[in-house]
Amino acid sequence: MDKIDTNSEKLGIPRILLMENAGSVLADHIINHVKELDSRKVVVVAGTGNNGGDGFVAARHLAGYSKEISVILLGNKMKTKESTLNWNGIKNMYKTIKLLTTDEFDFEKKMKPIILEADIIIDAIFGTGIKGLPRKLHSNAINLINDSKAYILSVDVPSGLDPLTGEVNNISVIANETITFHRFKIGLLKRKDITGKIILKSIGIPPEAEEGIMN
Ligand SMILES: NC(=O)c1ccc[n+]([C@@H]2O[C@H](COP(=O)([O-])OP(=O)(O)OC[C@H]3O[C@@H](n4cnc5c(N)ncnc54)[C@H](OP(=O)(O)O)[C@@H]3O)[C@@H](O)[C@H]2O)c1
Repeated sequence: MDKIDTNSEKLGIPRILLMENAGSVLADHIINHVKELDSRKVVVVAGTGNNGGDGFVAARHLAGYSKEISVILLGNKMKTKESTLNWNGIKNMYKTIKLLTTDEFDFEKKMKPIILEADIIIDAIFGTGIKGLPRKLHSNAINLINDSKAYILSVDVPSGLDPLTGEVNNISVIANETITFHRFKIGLLKRKDITGKIILKSIGIPPEAEEGIMN
């Protein structure tokens, strides 16, 4: 996927556009499928990479549709320019989106009720960029997500699942649905027990970006 993204960029479709499409697709899915969304609490639990960036875009598109929308950021330093741009965008939406970051005093104590009282959780902690075992902060958030009674929608890959092998790195979000982008990742198809229903969505990557990569 990384090579396809790079080719897409060379063809004139930058990652920021793909991220906008990914977040918009996620938000549309929720708007079109959740009954009485205006009485539901939506929580985006995000990492600092592009998977988190997809979650920030979804939060922006959902603002105004739900009773309350919160974004919990696991970390304090963005990893990519696209996630930085979209984080800065939602930071200014002080009337419609509540933010919680690890810089806040008693972060973990504050995170717990927000996750446990959510109606819908968007899992945007990590996607294809996971490496090794999730660190403690991330594992704690994943445990809370799995303990909640919320409907869980994973972005691209349930956080903790290796998208290539289908193996779980110690712990993984157990999703009700996974919206994956552009192509099915092999590991997802092996783990319906973790992904829930898998929905494949286009995010506007030109087919030409696959030349030399896909058969
Ligand atoms: N073409 C597409 O399909 C497309 C287009 C646009 C966006 N996207 C989205 O972008 C995602 C990929 O974005 P990405 O490459 O930036 O990777 P990512 O999936 O967002 O993961 C990278 C982030 O996870 C953290 N991380 C990785 N392993 C960790 C671990 N074991 N414990 C704790 N934190 C860990 C990294 O922090 P550290 O570096 O500090 O570990 C980094 O913040 C896709 O899954 C999709 O959601 C996809």
